[in-house]
Amino acid sequence: SRPIKIAPSILSADFADFGREIQAIEAQGADWVHVDVMDGHFVPNLTFGPPLCAAIRPHIKTVMDVHLMIAPVDPYIDAFAKAGADIITAHLEAGPHIHRTLQAIRAAGCKAGLALNPGTAPQAAAPLMDMVDLICVMTVNPGFGGQSFIESQLNTIAALRAMIGDRPIHLQVDGGVTPDTAPRIAMAGADVLVAGSAVFRGGSVADPAPYGANIRAI
Ligand code: DX5
Ligand code: ZN
Repeated sequence: SRPIKIAPSILSADFADFGREIQAIEAQGADWVHVDVMDGHFVPNLTFGPPLCAAIRPHIKTVMDVHLMIAPVDPYIDAFAKAGADIITAHLEAGPHIHRTLQAIRAAGCKAGLALNPGTAPQAAAPLMDMVDLICVMTVNPGFGGQSFIESQLNTIAALRAMIGDRPIHLQVDGGVTPDTAPRIAMAGADVLVAGSAVFRGGSVADPAPYGANIRAI
């Protein structure tokens, strides 16, 4: 079976201490660092933008995985690439020209990710398989950490695993990942699990050991 990567979402970290939070989760076994960018328009919440990404980049030794929950996307791709994103993931629902967006992400020198909201059929990704390095299945409605996993999305994960076949495309799952849901998610075929609240609960930069225990429990 494929190795599972854990990508903690810093949405659940201490916003006043991102540098040390990132160092702590990487020391505790995080494979990637997942950065949730929200615009108060595509999703009903606001987080941060390219300057914050640039500021945290020197603290990341693994992979900066930037999840854009913004619309439009295209005017901001170069700024996130310059800020040091390794992967830029855009939502299929964020505009009328997702193919162009994915092209632009690769042209900017980043790996291209495609995110699908829970209301989007997996087959919508079919024409884009040669354009993507990662597909992100949202298992909550995007906008907030700490929501409940939408069980019916296990079907979407399994359908995308079948569509991906042997292609070198990561299948990421984002939202409601916990020690309870993770085994079903892995069984359905995901290989990168984003987890915010389930990683950061119970720990702090002063006492980061719970982060490691939480990561291993997933
Ligand atoms: C949701 C974000 C997620 C979120 C996950 O809009 O894309 O990355 O932070 O949080 P948890 O793991 O708490 O569901
Ligand atoms: Zn995310």
